Amino acid sequence: MPKQNTATKNLRPIILELHQYTAGKSIIEIANKYNLDPKQILKLGSNENILGSSLKAKIAATFALEKVNIYPEVTSEELANKIKKVNKLKNVDVVVGNGMDHIFEMVARLFLNNDDETIISVPTFTCYELATLWAGAVPRLIPLAKDGYQMNVKRILNAINKRTKIIFICSPNNPTGNLMRTEDIKTILENTDKIVFLDEAYSEFSGVTLTSWIEKYPNLIIGRTFSKLYGLAGYRVGYAFIHKSIASYYFNSITPFVVSRPAQAAALHALDDTSFVNKTLKMVREAKEFYYKELSKAGISYLPTDANFITIQTAPQLSKDVADKLMAKGIITRECSAFGTGGNKLLRITLGTREQNERVLNELKLLFS
Ligand SMILES: Cc1ncc(COP(=O)(O)O)c(C=O)c1O
Repeated sequence: MPKQNTATKNLRPIILELHQYTAGKSIIEIANKYNLDPKQILKLGSNENILGSSLKAKIAATFALEKVNIYPEVTSEELANKIKKVNKLKNVDVVVGNGMDHIFEMVARLFLNNDDETIISVPTFTCYELATLWAGAVPRLIPLAKDGYQMNVKRILNAINKRTKIIFICSPNNPTGNLMRTEDIKTILENTDKIVFLDEAYSEFSGVTLTSWIEKYPNLIIGRTFSKLYGLAGYRVGYAFIHKSIASYYFNSITPFVVSRPAQAAALHALDDTSFVNKTLKMVREAKEFYYKELSKAGISYLPTDANFITIQTAPQLSKDVADKLMAKGIITRECSAFGTGGNKLLRITLGTREQNERVLNELKLLFS
């Protein structure tokens, strides 16, 4: 008689409750679903760099293939040192991960025991909640203020208890696009010694960063990524600025070799390609102004953005319905139900070239007329 498969009973209880991360849709998925030519599809649902990535970075990655039989540096030291040098920070170390997503997991590994708590203001990027759950800890979700999507600082401070370990803050916030008020972040840091993880994935587009604060607030960790401005999402390189007093514990806990040799080389050289960076920033700036003007003319509500995407308010329509209709026309956007409170009426669109933006706006105007 075949042995009954009871392998699942070994799973941790929390794992039985999880659902797979909902990523933005891929071109091939949509081409197949709607019988469209993949070349005609606009992928504007994941805030990637529409201009591609730096040629210097790609060449460096290709050269790195020569040594791909050799393990990469354990902690991406050369890249970390370069980031440190570029940012000129004192008492601050840089840790590099397999995307910032991996750094959330590392931070959870460092600080969270079973039943500890994290505080997350929603709607926001879902990976903070996932990293918390994977660690067996409990996410406490606090809605952002409806008006302006700023943090509810009083509620955050009131929610802190002895089990609280990490407060996640996303600024500019995904999916609402706005910077969190600097005074609010300061108030939180002045009133707690819990870890404050500030996600600055989109900070280069806003020109605002709080990295210089880490020296004063050793409990502040700031995450960044090469996936957005630098266009290296496919290589998976993220990093974080972390106070020297905790950095050695981070290095002691790290999974070795998480960033591949070509990925490290690409990131290292992407930092030097100021012309690609400036071209991207210019495109995003122009796209933002264009969207503001055209959406206002069409009477479509939008959230002002400090990132490389713009989020529109779809009410009374559900964002899922609008996203489906756009998808049928070959335009992939991101409906934000998975991001928490109110996300089901928010639709996020990556800012693109003039031609791409015109195509999206023409379709939106038809859907909202
Ligand atoms: C706010 C935010 N943080 C982090 C990430 C993930 O970054 P990475 O690609 O480096 O894992 C994203 C990706 O969309 C994001 O929006």
